[in-house]
Amino acid sequence: MTCSSTGVVGTRGAYPREADNLSVVAETTEVTMDKIVSLCRRRGFVFPSSEIYGGLGSTYDFGHYGVLLRDNIRSLWLRAMVRERDDIVALDSAVILNPKVWEASGHVTGFTDPLVDCRTCKLRFREDQLASAQCGRKPSKHPGETPDCDLTEARLFNLMFQTQVGALEDASSAAYLRPETAQGIFINFKNVLQLARRKPPFGIAQIGKAFRNEITPGNFVFRVREFELMEMEYFVPPDEADKWHRYWIETRLNWFLKYGLRESMLRVREHGEDERSHYSTATSDIEYLYPIGWSELEGIANRGDYDLTQHTEHSGTKLEYVGEGGERYTPWVIEPAVSIERIFVALLADAYDEEVVEERQRTLLRLHPAMAPVKAAILPLISKESAGMVEPARKLYEELRRHHLVEYDDGGNIGRRYRRQDEIGTPWAFTIDDVTLEDGTVTVRDRDTLAQERLPLEGVRAWLDDALERPWTPPPKG
Ligand code: GAP
Repeated sequence: MTCSSTGVVGTRGAYPREADNLSVVAETTEVTMDKIVSLCRRRGFVFPSSEIYGGLGSTYDFGHYGVLLRDNIRSLWLRAMVRERDDIVALDSAVILNPKVWEASGHVTGFTDPLVDCRTCKLRFREDQLASAQCGRKPSKHPGETPDCDLTEARLFNLMFQTQVGALEDASSAAYLRPETAQGIFINFKNVLQLARRKPPFGIAQIGKAFRNEITPGNFVFRVREFELMEMEYFVPPDEADKWHRYWIETRLNWFLKYGLRESMLRVREHGEDERSHYSTATSDIEYLYPIGWSELEGIANRGDYDLTQHTEHSGTKLEYVGEGGERYTPWVIEPAVSIERIFVALLADAYDEEVVEERQRTLLRLHPAMAPVKAAILPLISKESAGMVEPARKLYEELRRHHLVEYDDGGNIGRRYRRQDEIGTPWAFTIDDVTLEDGTVTVRDRDTLAQERLPLEGVRAWLDDALERPWTPPPKG
């Protein structure tokens, strides 16, 4: 038997395969939020939370494949931010901090949305989103559009969730669930500076849950009240802040391109003065063309010296950099901040595709292999033990699972199993068939092209290692 450098030995196989003379009808797929929600539900990525009790608005639980996809997003972010760099260290600070932190940071007074109530329909709306909000009465109108609407003046509503610490329920025990992870980083600035022996420019990266009492959550997990933030505070000499701001916009944009988001679906938008957060000197958003339109994927802010100065004033602890020559200054901060949920929706929207193969519709997720929840499926063509395929298939599965997240699937006919793997975005399937029993080769099927090749069983592990390292660009969509 001869084989190429990738171990491919031919395309022989004894069962109907998709790749030979396939009729594939590719039409432009309209990707809607409904289609994404439905696939997530059908394949166990995401469930509405507390469903057996009627749910809780805009709250979701993540199932098996959702957890695996989140895990990939998290670890690829950490890899780019910490593992592959010398200048950034990791941190995991508490969710509930001393409430003085939020006074100093300006969140107690400044982390607000302007809200108006309608005395007629009794609903509450964000003043800056009246044009897109729906009035409570039928036929649905935008609030304020008809003379019947009786809107109050706007009032500021704080987005932080309050809680109590300890047994006493009085003002002294009030605390907040963090609305961002950044403050946990600023209050540890001195610890890290001393112990990690860093000097600007250097960064501190943190991933963790954040909580916001959003008044108009929605669009699936795009805007939720509980989400997982990935933030990195990059401390720089003040006169280098602009340079590093531009650097991080470009670096983060390239990260999204590297992991398969289409260039045409991404853009950078600079905030106008009126939309910047209370701490920001300049902010640019990386926006993605979600099914709901262009919206913020990641924000990259120049926070100036706002936070370190505020915490220095409020805590009495000097948060500054003192150089070996005695020079001292308060570093400025560049902050790329993104939630796992926003990346999750962007990846699914980008990867979702439909095409007609042999007159049957195929739905698939063309995910970057590094992001795909399952890297490969191992499928015995016939799942009866007596057919002799289960044993080599289990053996291959046991070997591969030690190195990669792979799935053994013996339920249903082979076409159904392929379709199931397509829908969860598994890039490759290895099928053990009767030819395997004759010559020790397996079929590898490619999710995107549907091409099939044969590999020697003993070369599968190396083939998969190699395939996962290959550069990947998003294939054209149907
Ligand atoms: N520390 C800066 C900060 O928190 P932000 O623009 O308010 O800035 C950062 O939030 C990122 O968090 C956003 O770019 C977005 O990716 C994500 N995000 C914000 N609110 C969210 C929500 N309610 N649900 C999901 N993700 C959210």
